[in-house]
Amino acid sequence: MASKKQFYLTTPIYYPSDNLHIGHAYTTVAADALARFKRHQGYDVMFLTGSDEHGQKIQRVALEQGVTPQKYVDRIVAGFKHLWKTLDISYDDFIRTTEERHLRSVQRIFQRLYENGDIYKSEYEGWYCVPCETFWTERQITGEHVCPDCGRPVELVKEESYFFRMSRYAERWLRYIEANPDFIQPVSRRNEMISFVKQGLEDLCVTRTTFDWGIKVPFDPDHVIYVWIDALANYITALGFTSADETKFRHHWPADVHLVGKEIVRFHTIIWPIMLMALDLPLPKKVFGHGWLILDSGKMSKSKGNVVDPLVLVDKYGVDAIRYFLLREIPFGSDGYYSEEALIKRINSDLANDLGNLIYRTLTMLNKYYDGVVPAPGLEAEVDRDLRQVARTAVLDAEAAMDRLEISVALEAIWELVKRANKYIDETAPWALARNKEADRLATVMYNLAETGRILAVLLVPYMTSTPRLIWEQLGLSADPAAQGWAAAKKWGGLKPGAKTHRGAPLFPRIDLDKEELTMDTEKTTVKEKVSKTPKVEKKAVNQIDIHEFGRIELKIAEVLLAERVPKSKKLLRLEVALGQERRQLVAGIGKSYEPEQLIGKKIVVVTNLKPAKLMGVESNGMLLAASFPGQGEEEAISLLTVDRPIDSGARVR
Ligand code: MSP
Repeated sequence: MASKKQFYLTTPIYYPSDNLHIGHAYTTVAADALARFKRHQGYDVMFLTGSDEHGQKIQRVALEQGVTPQKYVDRIVAGFKHLWKTLDISYDDFIRTTEERHLRSVQRIFQRLYENGDIYKSEYEGWYCVPCETFWTERQITGEHVCPDCGRPVELVKEESYFFRMSRYAERWLRYIEANPDFIQPVSRRNEMISFVKQGLEDLCVTRTTFDWGIKVPFDPDHVIYVWIDALANYITALGFTSADETKFRHHWPADVHLVGKEIVRFHTIIWPIMLMALDLPLPKKVFGHGWLILDSGKMSKSKGNVVDPLVLVDKYGVDAIRYFLLREIPFGSDGYYSEEALIKRINSDLANDLGNLIYRTLTMLNKYYDGVVPAPGLEAEVDRDLRQVARTAVLDAEAAMDRLEISVALEAIWELVKRANKYIDETAPWALARNKEADRLATVMYNLAETGRILAVLLVPYMTSTPRLIWEQLGLSADPAAQGWAAAKKWGGLKPGAKTHRGAPLFPRIDLDKEELTMDTEKTTVKEKVSKTPKVEKKAVNQIDIHEFGRIELKIAEVLLAERVPKSKKLLRLEVALGQERRQLVAGIGKSYEPEQLIGKKIVVVTNLKPAKLMGVESNGMLLAASFPGQGEEEAISLLTVDRPIDSGARVR
């Protein structure tokens, strides 16, 4: 095989269930980002996922639905594969535990453990949680007869069973964990596992006789193998372990990372390593236990039911937005929170405002000043060196974070560059450079912005699947950013002057935040206004008004979505603004102080209940607020009123 460094990465294999929600998708999307990152770095990646199809729970559900367990799992697994395809999951193999290659290998593994004296027959009497497929001792359930993991009732089980001699390996396990501090991550989970084993490791019951939906014990077919022993083995059965051809196994094993949710860390860091020790095989290099995406139990997920279905979300918001949200929202080692509102806020702030605007503004200005052709850089200034430095830091920080599996931290590092570049536009003010004919500076600034776009396209390859290519194509580059390799982001200057760019639509359109809520708010406001009578105005000193008079002026925060000059006017700009879910057109006389590109994304203050007026034939539905001050020469300069912290458009100004 090739001499490239190899990287073997796995997700857990999923229980067939009709309720796959966005939280389930998290593990697989996170693993996919990691797989794509490693491929981008030049590794020979093997990325495995699959389905965990045996056990009492599946048999019961199939029975309830009146189908055979095999029919039941076949239907659900087809759904999994469709979901992974929709989310652009780039797995290299999908293992089903009902496949022949898996069944045979698990039986041979069990036989080997039995022959080595690590499996023996006895009688099991204790508690079993069917939903978790977990055995519990009397001591562990502390007399309450509910599962310590999920809180559901446990069942008393008494049957003849085979046991796995885990107790024999407790000392060796502890020594291994001490000697390999990176094996269980994050550290908090490692400490939990150590204290669990130190309390005493009992032998594990590894067969059942009261149902038959499982892999039969080869030498005693009345018994089926415990589903966790069956499932954990997938990481090596998929590589052909014990089959006639073990090439893949020899090439890929041991795994570099098993990525799992925090609730199944115990199985992966205690039972699985001990199985491997008993088989005399090397242990995986790392088990990483990530946090959960906590679902909002409020109106959205319960009453509408379908919003947490990943397929519905992808349909509504697009694959890249959903992938970005999942990867960005669960911080390293802890839980993240899901609500559709949180999702929309992320899309609007990080994707539409930050990334989308940066690329759109850059390409708009390239069109305007250079007919869309990337200029050769000219005169250099301190601010350019700063941008380059931030780009370099972003690449290095993101790389280091990915190596620690801190995916959300990697994205934060990349967004440092996105934000710096947006600030760079405001600081360098290309429109002023163009106006003042500072051609040398303008060329440098525009080159640097396009080059930042190129670097971002390369950096985003692991996380999003169509956006990096779109940026790439818009910058007039050929081939594919994924083909460049991660290192292409480390070298400043990869973009060749002369490239012909093609501006497209903004990458991520802004989304109206929960229309229903906003509609309700608007209604409330309207009703209030209708009932408030026109106030009796008393004669006051000149220029004084009372609070009711002021209250008649409706002021709101608006976000500028589009800005362009009104033809044949030096002063007038036509703006399209968002006021919550409403869109409006305004015409403003600020064209001598502002270039249109400068305004996109700005949050300004607008009088919204002014009668419409036409200015040079263009209708204006409101008036923005600005202060005037003496400018250069005779001219009066203008400064727009904006807000000093993040705020949604549509907010009232009082
Ligand atoms: N079948 C076992 C794994 C066997 S691996 C040898 C299993 N399956 S599962 O379908 O219940 O879970 C699969 C993965 O989805 C787990 O990593 C689990 O943590 C993850 N998640 C399920 N709900 C989740 C969230 N709400 N948030 C994040 N991850 C979640 O366990």
